[in-house]
Amino acid sequence: MGYPLCTHYCDTVLASNFVAASRPLACGFSKLIRSAEHKLRGLSSTASPLRTRSSVPSSSSLSLDLPCTCADTHSLQDPLNPPHSIIMSGRLTGKVALVTGASRGIGRATAIALSDEGASVVVNYISSNSAAEEVVREIGADRAISVKADVSKLDDIEILIKQTIDRFQKIDILVLNAGLLWQNGSLEATDEKTFDKLFGSNVKGPFFMVQMATPYIPEGGRIMLFSSSLTSFSMITPNYLLYAATKGAVEQMTRVLAKDLGKRNVTVNTISPGPIGTDAYYVGKTEQMVQMQSNLAPAGRLGEPEDVAEVITFIACDQSRWMNGQNIRINGGMTVG
Ligand SMILES: NC(=O)c1ccc[n+]([C@@H]2O[C@H](COP(=O)([O-])OP(=O)(O)OC[C@H]3O[C@@H](n4cnc5c(N)ncnc54)[C@H](OP(=O)(O)O)[C@@H]3O)[C@@H](O)[C@H]2O)c1
Repeated sequence: MGYPLCTHYCDTVLASNFVAASRPLACGFSKLIRSAEHKLRGLSSTASPLRTRSSVPSSSSLSLDLPCTCADTHSLQDPLNPPHSIIMSGRLTGKVALVTGASRGIGRATAIALSDEGASVVVNYISSNSAAEEVVREIGADRAISVKADVSKLDDIEILIKQTIDRFQKIDILVLNAGLLWQNGSLEATDEKTFDKLFGSNVKGPFFMVQMATPYIPEGGRIMLFSSSLTSFSMITPNYLLYAATKGAVEQMTRVLAKDLGKRNVTVNTISPGPIGTDAYYVGKTEQMVQMQSNLAPAGRLGEPEDVAEVITFIACDQSRWMNGQNIRINGGMTVG
């Protein structure tokens, strides 16, 4: 098996956009590494519809047929279970990302995907301390911290921003993922307390997060707010009245903010996932409901957190600089147009 990648502890930076300074450096050119990474990702997605690292088998007979450029003796790595330093290709090296609600679900996958591209990440959560710490461990404590903060409360937002700035000095990428999915929000079922709770986490939170983070977002920064494919005209569902109302507000905020902040090349976009298999999604759903919703996508499956995280990662990168004020629906074609 001709696998060319190794984690040799080199002194010389051979792939300049590929490093987190204190980590093991890959021998060879970044071009080769990226090419290998693409092959690996392609293979893992064939092997399983879940494109998570944990779903990648630990051994295989894949041959990449690329020459190893390292002359020294070194140990070869398992190509389908590469270490963290090999997965990342460095498009976000030097950037700082703050991801709200990053202990679980889409936020967790996003924090890891951004870090795979080299970003330092602030992992926010509200109660799952050990889950948040696990995300920090996976990324590496040299490039990640966890911060407990309820983003529906202004005092907590202040603490979150302060701890981010104290540690990383700026916020290049702000992913406002934290929110409550609510499926019993019909007109009759909604009381004032529930209304305030949902608008608190889904609308007030992102609004004041943007307000307090903006002074620390440099030119070329990225803000992503979260809506849902449920707001598409063809998907409007009565029980989701309250939830859809919060997400409608978020979509409108995005449009206005894109005009306001676009003046200094900060882009603001809405991420609108379809059904994604997270903890929040499965609450209160029967197997039959899950099956029915899986069938709404042409591929006949639910989305995975990584399906969303990888789009977010693209938007975080420089390549998306001209995409501003858009509502990006990530639902496998459940809604079109
Ligand atoms: N899953 C879907 O099908 C779907 C579809 C469309 C849109 N979305 C949107 O995608 C986003 C993420 O959803 P998800 O399914 O990944 O949710 P999830 O699995 O329930 O995870 C929610 C995350 O947000 C955190 N969180 C919740 N309220 C918070 C608050 N007030 N302050 C700080 N953190 C808070 C949670 O922290 P703890 O772990 O500490 O509780 C957790 O990390 C939401 O905005 C949701 O509306 C999801």
